[in-house]
Amino acid sequence: MGSVRQTPRRHSHFRLGAARFAERVCSALGGRAFYRSRYLAAGRLVVRTETARVPRLPAALEGFCIVQISDLHGGSFLGPGDLAHLVDTVDALAPDVIALTGDFVTHDAREVERVAGDLARLRAPLGVYAVFGNHDYRGREEALIAAALPGVCFLRNASARVQRDGASVAFVGVEDLEEGRVVDLDLARAGLAPGDVEIVLCHNPLGARAIARAGCAAILSGHTHAGQIDLPFLRRLGPKHPGLRLLLGDTLLVTSRGVGAVGVPLRIGAPAEIVVVRLARRVD
Ligand SMILES: [Fe+2]
Ligand SMILES: [Fe+2]
Repeated sequence: MGSVRQTPRRHSHFRLGAARFAERVCSALGGRAFYRSRYLAAGRLVVRTETARVPRLPAALEGFCIVQISDLHGGSFLGPGDLAHLVDTVDALAPDVIALTGDFVTHDAREVERVAGDLARLRAPLGVYAVFGNHDYRGREEALIAAALPGVCFLRNASARVQRDGASVAFVGVEDLEEGRVVDLDLARAGLAPGDVEIVLCHNPLGARAIARAGCAAILSGHTHAGQIDLPFLRRLGPKHPGLRLLLGDTLLVTSRGVGAVGVPLRIGAPAEIVVVRLARRVD
């Protein structure tokens, strides 16, 4: 994948309109309180652990810990304080880095205000990095989202290198494959140095195979909500889901089920989750 100029907008106005209508109805019926207690409370929120096995991983990076949080969808079903348990859980995991893989909002960039207070409490010694998801480009006001989250470094076809005991991990972020104006992996990787362990943040997992061909340790994606309501007759309505964990050669693709919800405050067979990704040396 080099530079790919996008034709913006894949959102179906009909689907988004239907989702907004359903959200208003469910919200009036107490959808937000239901969602918080059913999916985000202690004992409900899932913490999934994945290990990225990396050939020739420097000893200094053994156990390097990334916590991935995806698809918050601040709005009707997620507001101030609803992420309190999630943030406390992340804190207890003591990650080196936190990665946010997009869809902070659903319909309007201003919905970010509903989660900004909770997200401001996220702490990681080597930083909090993010990419935008397709919903975040609505109205082309991504800058509002970034401004509301001053502690978060957004990687827009860009990278950030972090060091632990002299060894480097590079976080590479690409614009959303559907809504970003230009997706440029080559530009995003331009700042990498030989020997960097590369982790790519890419909201939509559909681009993972092309990214993996360029070589990286892991790709962190979201977008699919793992179907959100994972029933056979509804499965085709949402984005194609490649599976929670997929090996593409030496590259681990992690697709998060996400945290929030679109349309209805319901998840079936796809609990809300955060993902802990740990690096480990691969021994052949
Ligand atoms: Fe999403
Ligand atoms: Fe998405």
